[in-house]
Amino acid sequence: MAYVNENYLKLKAGYLFPEIGRRVSVFCEENPEAAKRLIRCGIGDVTEALPLAVREAMKSAVDDLGNRDTFRGYGPEQGYSFLREAIAGDYRERGLNVADDEVFVSDGSKCDTGNILEIFGEGNTIAITDPVYPVYVDTNVMAGNTGDAREDGSYEGLVYLPCTAENDFVPAIPEEKVDIIYLCYPNNPTGTTATREQLAAWVDYANKNGSILLYDAAYEAFIQDDSVPRSIFEIEGARTCAIEFRSFSKNGGFTGVRCGFTIVPKELTAQTKDGKEVALHGLWNRRMSTKFNGASYPVQRGAEALYSEAGKAEVAALIEHYMGNAKILSDACKACGLTVYGGENAPYVWVGCPEGVGSWDAFDKFLNEANVVVTPGAGFGAAGEGYFRISSFNSRANVEEVAKRIAELKW
Ligand code: MLT
Repeated sequence: MAYVNENYLKLKAGYLFPEIGRRVSVFCEENPEAAKRLIRCGIGDVTEALPLAVREAMKSAVDDLGNRDTFRGYGPEQGYSFLREAIAGDYRERGLNVADDEVFVSDGSKCDTGNILEIFGEGNTIAITDPVYPVYVDTNVMAGNTGDAREDGSYEGLVYLPCTAENDFVPAIPEEKVDIIYLCYPNNPTGTTATREQLAAWVDYANKNGSILLYDAAYEAFIQDDSVPRSIFEIEGARTCAIEFRSFSKNGGFTGVRCGFTIVPKELTAQTKDGKEVALHGLWNRRMSTKFNGASYPVQRGAEALYSEAGKAEVAALIEHYMGNAKILSDACKACGLTVYGGENAPYVWVGCPEGVGSWDAFDKFLNEANVVVTPGAGFGAAGEGYFRISSFNSRANVEEVAKRIAELKW
């Protein structure tokens, strides 16, 4: 008999969002009337229509495929040059030094943040924030970078960097040396941001210790405050220590369309066991050319359209819509005395549970009494206990209804 990857057997229960989905399905089966009024503010999945500029570009790309002269087969594994240029050009317009061939287009940043582990060797000390986007943890478990799960859901061998209200949800620089650090700002799940100084301290730490920052900027488009950094490459020295992940899912409504990208600077290196420095750009290029055949042509044309004037205007309107929702949800929680974080530069509102209420209790209360799905903070890690996350990805009517129901909840 063949052997399985036993690392998978270490994984706790299901992945968070399917697990919530399972619980919600059971609830709906048992409560068909309540199910009719259910509003989902759990997973951060966009609800508004795909921008017209994107749809037109995708349709025209499909027409290209319908004509022998403009037909395209396999595309470049790293992404079409028209899209790499649009992406890198956007960075350059913001004064950041990113070359077209440092952009690797993919089918989304969830996949990239997991797949990137393939180019790192065994024995790295991995640090993650707590709470955290669960993909970073589970992919490290799958890759064998952790020991077993503990009772509280954490894993032996990972370094957890607590993000709490006391440190404004930005982790303190660890005392010990860690090799790879995941940072996500604007943050999922807390919806909070990191300042330039805080990120500079991380870049400095990483450069001094030869560590790599895996910087997830999937929510950068939601930043309203111009003093908040949108990219790790705004920080001097980041090109020698950071990889940046970006997504079109949340700004362009691509959660179902699927497209994102990763920036790997050419000067970024890591070492072999015998101390030889190797450029990570070449390794990631090799990985993508071997295991990926590129996002589809119509999808890449759609992504390119997000950078057109019309596309940018539509993205701005989408962001305004979701951030308007975030304000309504924050205000509703504040009005009933709950402590609220995030929601100002990110589409997630992170809410402290009332005294003595656990995060899964809050999830159950919302589901049973308000028929609203939220995400329990504990699902994002032990330090998420005592909080729940409300996603502002929804229609305005639904969000207004959720705000009404929040006001009616008796804790
Ligand atoms: C979330 O709800 O945290 C996100 O939608 C999950 C994701 O982007 O994969």
